[in-house]
Amino acid sequence: MTQQEEKTTITSMPRIGDPAPHFEAVTTQGNISFPEDYKGKWVILFSHPADFTPVCTSEFMTFAKLEADFNRLNTQLVGLSVDGLYSHIAWLRTIKERIEFRDMKNVEVKFPLIEDISMNVATKYGMIQPNESSTKAVRAVFFIDPKGIIRAMIYYPLSLGRNFKELKRVIIGLQTADKHAVALPADWQPGEDVIVPPANSCGAAADRMAGKDEGVYCKDWFFCMKPLAKEEVEMA
Ligand code: BEZ
Repeated sequence: MTQQEEKTTITSMPRIGDPAPHFEAVTTQGNISFPEDYKGKWVILFSHPADFTPVCTSEFMTFAKLEADFNRLNTQLVGLSVDGLYSHIAWLRTIKERIEFRDMKNVEVKFPLIEDISMNVATKYGMIQPNESSTKAVRAVFFIDPKGIIRAMIYYPLSLGRNFKELKRVIIGLQTADKHAVALPADWQPGEDVIVPPANSCGAAADRMAGKDEGVYCKDWFFCMKPLAKEEVEMA
């Protein structure tokens, strides 16, 4: 393959709205069948480039620290790298026994970490991005809903650790948008006003613009908002 061809190779990537591709895998917590085993729960499926590397270690400690928060949001964590099971086990043991980072110490990673030496799963999910690395997964994050549908994706390069406040905001935002049938503006945080869907007739739009739709206010005919109290939003 020429360098130019390598740069323009299009690998198959799951897209937002697609069913999460099925796989069977061995993990540090036993075998899993994905996404079937997680039916009824949200899942954050994420990849990291390699065990025994510093950015990944800082991320794993942070994921483990926040796991209970994610679980309260009916969300399970599932990690993956193209390392083998014994590497995963040794790395997680080292984290627990030897690594201190920020306020974290003796951190036990209890969520499953998938071994993917064959790169089958990583390839299926577009986690191998050859112009970044052909031997390591990038830092991909898939947000998968209780029906097994991919609802959002974030990709980070090897050199940049993830923003965990944003990962939590994405889960809370998706759940809030679903539950209240609303959309959420830039940088939305729980307690801030939300965007109401477009009115379904000219008359309804005119009523909204005239302030006749209880609690709804409009910046223009296409941009209407309403308050949504923090108490109405599930937060961990
Ligand atoms: C890291 O996690 O520190 C890392 C992993 C792969 C390449 C570069 C950094």
